[in-house]
Amino acid sequence: MATIEVVNVCEYEALAKEKLPKMAFDYYSSGAEDQWTLQQNRNAFQNIRFRPRILVDVSNVDISTTVLGLKISMPIMVAPAAMQKMAHPEGELATARAAAAAGTVMTLSSLATSSIEEVAATGPGIHFFQLYVFKDRNIVAQLVHRAECAGFKAIAVTADTPRLGRREADIKNRFVLPPHLTLKNFEGLDLGKMEKTNDSGLASYISSQIDRSLSWKDIRWLQTITKLPILVKGVLTAEDAKLCVEVGAAGVIVSNHGARQLDFVPATISALEEVVTAIQGRIPVFMDGGVRRGTDVLKALALGAAGIFVGRPVVYGLATDGEAGVRNVLQLLRDEFELAMSLAGCTKLSEISRSHIQIGNEKSKLSISRL
Ligand code: GLV
Repeated sequence: MATIEVVNVCEYEALAKEKLPKMAFDYYSSGAEDQWTLQQNRNAFQNIRFRPRILVDVSNVDISTTVLGLKISMPIMVAPAAMQKMAHPEGELATARAAAAAGTVMTLSSLATSSIEEVAATGPGIHFFQLYVFKDRNIVAQLVHRAECAGFKAIAVTADTPRLGRREADIKNRFVLPPHLTLKNFEGLDLGKMEKTNDSGLASYISSQIDRSLSWKDIRWLQTITKLPILVKGVLTAEDAKLCVEVGAAGVIVSNHGARQLDFVPATISALEEVVTAIQGRIPVFMDGGVRRGTDVLKALALGAAGIFVGRPVVYGLATDGEAGVRNVLQLLRDEFELAMSLAGCTKLSEISRSHIQIGNEKSKLSISRL
């Protein structure tokens, strides 16, 4: 499909919509209820402007970084997204190869259509595992053990989904995993299929399998069953950020689950600074949600994020052009981010600071004092 000229990652959404069955596209694209947060995740970036520095020698710009001690080529990583073989026959395997080629992290969903072992077998990339905590803790222990044995480097436990958010398109479509696919991590466990119901099949699946009683003590329990670092995904407040530090999380992901859970929570870029301030540098803070531009990445880093995860654009790239599509999504974001850094006068990530941005009506202190 090399004939399509895509100049930014947003363009992949329309291309994916053309390619995918309505049920699959609606599943990936929907937010919860009024989708207010879904819009905010994008719009809130527009409320942030840059204060670029000029006459900085940017002939060498280094965008590489480390995450949990692992070297990656850029602070842009792949978020977990479920059931990727609905997007493309190679699904998560193509995504994993593209992320490895880009020198960055791929996070595999618990609800993937490729197994932990299959993803590990794609090659030497850095893989994280997104964990849903099932009611049956033996299943959780097995998943975590398998991820650890397969060389995955972290567990990102989803903490915002005791129940599934109400995604109205999925309800109308009676969303269900197509019959030729299975949730590969559960083959042989009787959990690999999704029953057709009078609702979203995923909502029913989550409701019957996922543990609503999940609480802070379970983060400690997870630490007893694995040596892998645990990231808590779904943090939006200072209160919870502090609890993450207290329970020994290795990092937090500021996330509203792609605006698919509680509607009317803030955009993640708006919640980020509160979390960063509460964490006081004790553990790294990552974010996902609405990142579509290199400038979005720069804004997140200026607010203190150590890196961002990108979800829907990866799935749309995958749907459009398989592995090549995901590679291009990551390349476009990389190029835009490096350009934005250069134009803002930053040569390495440690030079990106809060003083490079202004939010809302904020005035630059320096410009006021000079008036
Ligand atoms: C799966 O995790 C989803 O939120 O759809």
